[in-house]
Amino acid sequence: MSAEIISGKDLAQELRLNMKQEVEELRKEGITPQLTVVLVGDNPASKSYVKGKEKAAKEVGISSSVIELPATIPEEELLQLIHKLNQDKEVNGILVQLPLPDHISEQKVIETINPDKDVDGFHPVNIGRMMIGEDTFLPCTPYGILTMLKSRNIQLEGKHAVVIGRSNIVGKPVGQLLLNENATVTYCHSRTKDLRNFTTKADILIVAIGKPNVLTAEDIKDGAVVIDVGINRLESGKLTGDVDFESAVSRASYITPVPKGVGPMTIAMLLKNTIKAAKGLENR
Ligand code: GUN
Repeated sequence: MSAEIISGKDLAQELRLNMKQEVEELRKEGITPQLTVVLVGDNPASKSYVKGKEKAAKEVGISSSVIELPATIPEEELLQLIHKLNQDKEVNGILVQLPLPDHISEQKVIETINPDKDVDGFHPVNIGRMMIGEDTFLPCTPYGILTMLKSRNIQLEGKHAVVIGRSNIVGKPVGQLLLNENATVTYCHSRTKDLRNFTTKADILIVAIGKPNVLTAEDIKDGAVVIDVGINRLESGKLTGDVDFESAVSRASYITPVPKGVGPMTIAMLLKNTIKAAKGLENR
């Protein structure tokens, strides 16, 4: 058996096409969604992600601007800028690209963003709303994963979902979203003993470890759905996931590739959140 590959690239493209039409309609009502991205320092990976976000925003007609700041900017100055953006009526969505330099508290920055402009879905208010199942901005990668699963009508209710990784950006929220869909959720992480004991019992396996090719077919239950969140660059320059794709593809029922898997979906969901922000609270 060979798994069906869920192409995040194709699904994201389809979503962008739909969003483009939605933005055209909004423009007729005088609303142009606006996303402001703040980039601190010159981390090459961050720069590249921000470029990808700008390009995608442009494609769907979302107005975007990038504010580039030096790595030496004092925390207080960054917080002042966020206050200014919070008050700017032209700005619907604010995204501060992470990671930030060590002298700046990421949590302070996240908590300074107005929750109604928090298109990353990282503000504690939005995380709280998500936990209690209220409509809100969902963190983009977990939201993208859920959208991929739903695109194939993969049943979640009553299924055993195993999440490997417990970051605030991916692991914790994706587990919560799956719980909201009535899955039974197990979290594994770097201190988990006998990881295979858990992964082989997963109907749905979400892998966000951050190390290349950790899981192989032997770690996967026959017919499981495997979502690979990892993006690792090998010495050869090749991008690879946390899952050994060639091995896992023979065991899973569905699998996401790397690249062209979860990555493009993350950006598509950011655009979705920006449109949601532009439509405003009253339209939630
Ligand atoms: N750095 C890596 N992923 C993300 C993300 O989704 N949002 C932000 N703001 N920074 C990131």
